[in-house]
Amino acid sequence: MTRGILLTVFLAAAPTAALAFSNGPVPERTGAPVDGGINCSACHRGNAINDGIGRLTILVRDYRPGVKQRVRVVLEHPEAQRWGFQITARLAGNPAQQAGTFAVTDSNQVRCADGTAAPCNGQREFAEHFARSTYPGQRGRAVWDLEWTPPSPASGEVIFYAAGNAANNNAINTGDFIYTTSTTIAAQNCNLTTAPRISSIRHGASFLDGPYAMNTMITLGGTGFQRPGQSFTAEGQDLVDNRFPAEASCVAVEVAGRRAALTYLDAGQINAQIPTIGDLGPVPVRVIANPGLPNELRSDAVNITLVENAPAFFRLLPTPCIAGVFQDGAVTGDPSLLPFTKGAKAGDILSLYATGLGVTEPVYQAGEIPGGPVEVKMPIQLEWNGVVMDSRDILYVGLAPGNITGLYQINIRVPAVARANIHNQLRIRQGSRLSPENTTLYIAP
Ligand code: HEC
Repeated sequence: MTRGILLTVFLAAAPTAALAFSNGPVPERTGAPVDGGINCSACHRGNAINDGIGRLTILVRDYRPGVKQRVRVVLEHPEAQRWGFQITARLAGNPAQQAGTFAVTDSNQVRCADGTAAPCNGQREFAEHFARSTYPGQRGRAVWDLEWTPPSPASGEVIFYAAGNAANNNAINTGDFIYTTSTTIAAQNCNLTTAPRISSIRHGASFLDGPYAMNTMITLGGTGFQRPGQSFTAEGQDLVDNRFPAEASCVAVEVAGRRAALTYLDAGQINAQIPTIGDLGPVPVRVIANPGLPNELRSDAVNITLVENAPAFFRLLPTPCIAGVFQDGAVTGDPSLLPFTKGAKAGDILSLYATGLGVTEPVYQAGEIPGGPVEVKMPIQLEWNGVVMDSRDILYVGLAPGNITGLYQINIRVPAVARANIHNQLRIRQGSRLSPENTTLYIAP
């Protein structure tokens, strides 16, 4: 089965208040046994620790020696309204010893074991919230994205210990819920033994054999992309410097000699994004196992043709329904084909998803994640049941904020000419290209 590319997704102050703990707790409160096993419950008393209602999770992949990566800390609780955490990384072989180094980011500060601020010069490090990253008033969950540079050379397994406080936002240390967790990672050992072989390259939305524009999502078929049964899906912890990875699970894809951003890999399929290449015409694509290592294995090159734009809507496979959402987040579609979807009505405002719409202004690179609206450079027309739609009903054509730059978003108002109770054909015309037929919006009775 072909896996979709779309990614899925916020005073009784005693004299002690002068210490301002919500500015970040004292060191050694992660619950790490080697530090004495103390956690936030040393002061935040009253409720049972790890009560099973909330949850603290550390999301982190195996490390490459010396190569910066993201560590994502997620704290969840149905009632909490303020959030805090502390985490430390240790060598499994000697847990008293710091492993790698944490950087200070928008999410976190770093305290050393002696209480001073980083750099810690080899002391044990404690990455933790600032006052501003306790997110007062935020409900449901908190996510902190940390930057961690692993040890180099490889130093065996690394254990992360963390404690979290799902707090009630009463500005004191009562009524809060404390969680602890730990997780172990290893140094990545790239030893794929089968040379990768590409058997097909397809447009990520139309699944046609091209053409493609810069930044288009593509899907490669073949063998030897991973070990049988293994897969990789890019998640929040895989984004470094807010970019999708150019190498994952010991595999890279090169297009015209440049690394492609990766979103999904398994033994027979890779979902990737064509790099931001200005040149048009044929370019070679290769899959590389164990990239950059002495045991590197390269596939034969397969040529694809780059053009200025190659628009196509993503569909909710196996239906012809265009992937899209209503303003309230409900998914567009035909509920008789897919029960979780809903038919649209004239006047509804929808966001529809596509790929292949080419360069944007300003230019965004493949793998990047735009924070806000970014429009495409070459304008589009939409054909509704074969008739060009009034451009006033096309509200936005650009990148999908918060997603990989290969995902384009077209916001429309469903026109009055929409025909009820049937699938209406919708196609994108951009320059000389018309998106493939049989992509539809189902209009409710
Ligand atoms: C030495 C005692 C002490 C320890 C240990 C401690 N705290 Fe606190 N914490 C306090 C006090 C006192 C307050 C209230 C004053 C303030 O906000 O600074 C507080 C407040 C907080 C708040 C705001 C609570 C609210 O409801 O508004 C958060 C979040 C927090 N701490 C997180 C943590 C985390 C996470 C840990 C463990 C990693 C921790 N604290 C460990 C004493 C402590």
